[in-house]
Amino acid sequence: MHWRAIFPFLVFPVLLGCGGEKPEQSRGGEQGTNVASPVAAGVPATMLQRGKQIYESYCRTCHQANGQGIPGMYPPLAKSDFLQDKRRVIHALVFGLSGSITVNGKQFNGVMPPAPYNDEDLAAVLTYVYNSFGNPGGSVTPEEVAAVRKAGKQALQ
Ligand code: HEC
Repeated sequence: MHWRAIFPFLVFPVLLGCGGEKPEQSRGGEQGTNVASPVAAGVPATMLQRGKQIYESYCRTCHQANGQGIPGMYPPLAKSDFLQDKRRVIHALVFGLSGSITVNGKQFNGVMPPAPYNDEDLAAVLTYVYNSFGNPGGSVTPEEVAAVRKAGKQALQ
């Protein structure tokens, strides 16, 4: 019975979301990184699209449009050496991350809250990150996220 009232709210963000990507793409080349069209062998396009959508609406606020972060505040995702430890990355997103960390030789001591997404969405956004911003590629599956979630926060310090 509520569907008629709710329907526009479901549809319009999607339409706005699509329209909103055009200026992003045409602005391209900022810092020489192509955010708009990551190429990933064997990764479904829909997964990357979903990942990009989550990145743009959530992660970008802190890690910035090209994943370059903000010096001294938000660490870069672009060519981040932290990404090499996939389990640690998943853990950071599922349970949050705080305290001193070193990314590409620079220290950060901030707080990232747990990302409010399910396993599938976290897999999508992390796969997007691994395949964007000059990063080397790779993928994160919902099963990998589920396993880290199940192991619990204490499994990694
Ligand atoms: C509210 C700001 C904020 C948001 C939103 C946020 N992060 Fe973070 N992120 C941080 C901070 C701050 C750190 C470093 C925490 C520390 O110093 O211990 C971090 C660290 C990381 C790291 C590990 C270090 C690195 O740079 O490689 C990864 C990977 C990461 N974030 C990915 C993401 C992804 C993907 C999203 C979106 C799903 C996201 N973050 C959303 C603030 C944020």
